[in-house]
Amino acid sequence: MMKLALPQAVRVVEVGPRDGLQNEKVHIPTEQKIRFIELLAEAGLPVVEATSFVSPRAIPQLGDAGVVMAGLKRLSGTDYPVLVPNVKGMERALQAGVRSIAVFTAASESFTRHNINASIAQSLENFRPVLEMAQREGIAARGYISTVFGCPYEGAVNPRKVLEVARALLDMGVGELSLGDTIGVATPNQVVEVLDLLCGEGQIEMARLAVHFHDTRGTALANVLMALQMGVRTVDAAAGGLGGCPYAPGASGNLATEDLVYMLNGMGIATGVDLEKVVAATRFIAPLLDHAPASKYYQAWQASCM
Ligand code: HMG
Ligand code: MG
Repeated sequence: MMKLALPQAVRVVEVGPRDGLQNEKVHIPTEQKIRFIELLAEAGLPVVEATSFVSPRAIPQLGDAGVVMAGLKRLSGTDYPVLVPNVKGMERALQAGVRSIAVFTAASESFTRHNINASIAQSLENFRPVLEMAQREGIAARGYISTVFGCPYEGAVNPRKVLEVARALLDMGVGELSLGDTIGVATPNQVVEVLDLLCGEGQIEMARLAVHFHDTRGTALANVLMALQMGVRTVDAAAGGLGGCPYAPGASGNLATEDLVYMLNGMGIATGVDLEKVVAATRFIAPLLDHAPASKYYQAWQASCM
C-alpha cells in the first residue's frame, strides 16, 4: 500500500477564549470566560490562548484580560498565552503573571492599518521592545501573520510578503510563527505554495510554523491535511468553531477544535486531547452566545442527543 507522509502527533493550539470570544457581540461575564479556559485545559489541550491585552476600545469583550489571568487556576502542563500589541499591553500582561505571549501583524498593509492602526513596518517596530521584554523575562513569544492567503481589503496577497514579515519576526526573537487565513479563503494549493516558499527559499524550519485557518468557506480541514503532509505539526483551532476578527469583514469562525480532533483521532494521529471534554467546554459556553456553535462535530453530537 502507498505510504502517506503523516505525523504521529499534532500539537493543537486552542484559540477559542481569545479568537473566539473577541468576536462575540454579547458580553460574557469574566467568571464564565475563566471556566471556559479551565475546561479547555482540562480537556488536555496543551496550549489555551486565554485573552488579549489589547486596547479595550478595540476589543471591549476582552477588556477584563487582567482579571481573567488573575482568576485562572492554571494547570502546570498547560501554556496560557495572550495577545500583546505593544509595550502597554506587555506591562499589563507581566503584571497579570503571563508567561507566554503572541504579537500579531499581517502580510497586507490595509488589514494591519484597520486592525492595529499601524503599517506593517511600524507594527514590527512596536514589537521590538515587547520582544526584548519577553526575552529578559524568559517568556516565550509567538508571532501571528494574518491575511497570509488573502486580505479582506486588498484581495490576493503575495507569498513573498509573507516571507518578508516571517523573517522579520523570527529575526526579532519570535519562537513560533502562526500563518493566519484570517478570512478563510485559502485552498490547499496555496498552502503548498506558501509553505514551500517559507521553508524552501526562506529556509525557515517547518517546526517553527503553525497554521491558523478560519473555516469561512469550508476549506480549513483540507488545508490542515495538506499542511500536515508538508510537515506542519502545530495547528490552531477554536472550540465550537468560534472566532473571527472584528477588523476583518466577512471573517467567520476558526476551524473547530472538535472537527480537527475528530479527524486526527480517526487518522490515528495523537493530540492528547479528550474530544468529549472539548464538547463539554463548547456546551458550557454555547448558551452564553447569541448564535449556535458552527462546529460540525458539535452539531452532530447535539443531533445524536435528541
Ligand atoms: P491606537 O489607538 O493607535 O493606540 O491603537 P494608541 O497607542 O494611540 O492608544 C490609544 C488608547 O488606547 C490610549 O488610551 C492608550 O492608552 C490605549 P487613551 O489615552 O486614549 O485613554 N491603549 C491600550 N490600553 C490597554 N492595553 C493596551 C493599549 N494600547 C493602547 N495594550 C492598538 C493601537 C494596537 C492598541 C489597537 O489598535 C488595538 O488594541 N488593536 C487590537 C485589535 C485586535 O485585538 N484584533 C484582533 C486580534 S488579531 C486576529 O484576530 C487575527 C489572528 O487571529 C490571526 C488570524 O486569524 O489571521 C491573530
Ligand atoms: Mg484568527
